[in-house]
Amino acid sequence: MRWDNQVKKLPYGGDYNPEQWPEEIWDEDMALFAKAGIDTVTLNVFSWAAIQPSETEYDFSKLDKIVNLVTEHGMQIILATSTGAHPAWMAHRYPDILRVDYAGRKHKFGGRHNSCPNSPTYHKYAPLLAEKLAEHYKDQKNIIAFHISNEYGGDCYCENCEKGFRKWLKEKYGSIEAVNKAWNTTFWGHTFYDFEEIVAPNLLSEEGEWGGRCHTMFQGISLDYRRYMSDAMLDMYKMERDAIRKIVPKAAITTNLMGFYKPLDYRKWAKEMDFVSWDNYPSPTDPVEITAMCHDLMRGIKDGESFALMEQTPSVTNWLPYNALKRPGVLRLWSYQAVAHGADSVLFFQMRRSIGACEKYHGAIIDHCGHGDTRVFREASALGEELKKLGDATMTMETKAKVAVLFDWNNWWATEYSAGPSQDLNYREQVSKYYASLRKKNIDVDIVFPDSDLTGYQVVIAPVLYMVETGLDERIRAFVEKGGIFITGFFSGYVQENDLVVTGGYPGKLRDILGIWVEETDAFPQDACNHFSYHGKVYPAKLLCDLIHLEGAVALDDKGYLEDFYQGMPVVTKNEFGQGKAYYVATDSDEAFRDVFLEDILAEAGIRPLLETSKEIEVTSRENETGILYYVLNHGEKAGNFDLPVEGEELLTGETLTAGKYQIEAKDVKVIRVLK
Ligand code: GLA
Ligand code: ZN
Repeated sequence: MRWDNQVKKLPYGGDYNPEQWPEEIWDEDMALFAKAGIDTVTLNVFSWAAIQPSETEYDFSKLDKIVNLVTEHGMQIILATSTGAHPAWMAHRYPDILRVDYAGRKHKFGGRHNSCPNSPTYHKYAPLLAEKLAEHYKDQKNIIAFHISNEYGGDCYCENCEKGFRKWLKEKYGSIEAVNKAWNTTFWGHTFYDFEEIVAPNLLSEEGEWGGRCHTMFQGISLDYRRYMSDAMLDMYKMERDAIRKIVPKAAITTNLMGFYKPLDYRKWAKEMDFVSWDNYPSPTDPVEITAMCHDLMRGIKDGESFALMEQTPSVTNWLPYNALKRPGVLRLWSYQAVAHGADSVLFFQMRRSIGACEKYHGAIIDHCGHGDTRVFREASALGEELKKLGDATMTMETKAKVAVLFDWNNWWATEYSAGPSQDLNYREQVSKYYASLRKKNIDVDIVFPDSDLTGYQVVIAPVLYMVETGLDERIRAFVEKGGIFITGFFSGYVQENDLVVTGGYPGKLRDILGIWVEETDAFPQDACNHFSYHGKVYPAKLLCDLIHLEGAVALDDKGYLEDFYQGMPVVTKNEFGQGKAYYVATDSDEAFRDVFLEDILAEAGIRPLLETSKEIEVTSRENETGILYYVLNHGEKAGNFDLPVEGEELLTGETLTAGKYQIEAKDVKVIRVLK
């Protein structure tokens, strides 16, 4: 990734809102920041109303003071554009900026992340504000990045959005006939004769919520609306980005993403961002592998480039039903976990806890007590000190994974819009299961996408690859032909990019690669299942069970399904294809099965864990031409150990570690550099 203006160490700090405080407090902040080793602040995230009090006035005086203050104290600035929440006067005068929700209700002023992506008012004033900011601060040398808006998200169904949708469709399809074909509108007599007849799919039209899940009667239109909304919000970002770029051509520009955020196709977004940044807020009960996967997703969307950890809480959130504290040591541990997966910054929300509104009980470096004699401040200061010493030793290094897991937003939307075969099918969860099994074995994993270059990987796993977009089957075919190992499973290969079924037998275009034909699929509620046996041990066959015929592949399980009328039909299959192999797992089994199955796969590929460790120790690697860094993170409650096969230097202590077995305390971290 690239920060601007030659950043020399991991930026440490985060969201700072001094405008919420009297100026006397600011000096206290500066003193405490110095004590905590804070060197970077994100300013101006929600100040639109302050900076632009009316249509024609722009007032930077307060922001100038803040910028000068932090600059005098030697800090770097990430300058936000403030467009994540519009001013009340704007909403009052120009209601087109307000959104219409899924149920068709026009919103009033309130909240944030609340502007209609197609509002002419927003299109006029948001980029103008970005431009004015860029103009005003273009010579400010300590700005290391521009941060556009904040956590884009949600959706809108207003008339301007509907109009925009029709335009988007015209550009995509060219003619109304092509739209009808793509959406299969002869079903239920939905043929359109004019683009004007098309309305947004929501509760008032094609969609509804059943069983807590969004359903649609026409997947084609709903899918296209998702794509369109993601694009419309990306256009909001691009407008501001271009406005800044006009004035500061070399600016490093980003916006803060949210990991697995379903409404926005971040793979597409990343292509428009100078670097990816994201906000990491795992709930205290999330397994550490899930956090790891989010980081890897954020690294993956920009093809492996390092990213910025833009926000995390130092201690506690305010928006969960139960906001548990980060336990002692976890602030440091999770900060390094981000770095271990590719982060080139450690930033927090927020620097000082506010006194009013919904985030007053959100954790901060400086608490309401106003001094630094707190557990959180001490932990933050110790980390600040450590990161100073670490300097740039960990920056801009790459993860060289041999295993990739495929993820796709279009497939996510399509799989979960699908009416049938099971309401319990959760795409992200299915992908997570494979990812987590690999992560627990301390294998580095890249998250890849349908348009990613697969060469260089030895194993590619694509769970529930329901939608195979044009060209993806060719890329998979080439990958396997050249010797790659490909794994997929149930509910894969059914449809092309418009959610139209590829006829001739499932799994459609993947059929020859996998050497199987899926004739039917059985579905189970959560308390029921079939079974199968693998290497002599019986495992559950849950959720969905494909009924498979072998067409060149061989069955690897012992006797096929063990029950029901499809008893004996294969569950795990392997097809030799070109120089490679393609595996199919016809059902959703448990962790124990995935463990054994993946061990077989990794053994076949000759891939070993990065380091041998006791349980609950996570190991990742990042490298450059000269060396490789092993990050060893003990997420457990007890001391654990790891084997170091060669000599290395532990960067946090400066110790030389000869090859051998080492202990690592609970919640501790080691960063070990091994020279190449
Ligand atoms: C998000 C936002 C911040 C803040 C935090 C609280 O990440 O970007 O402004 O609201 O959540 O967790
Ligand atoms: Zn709208």
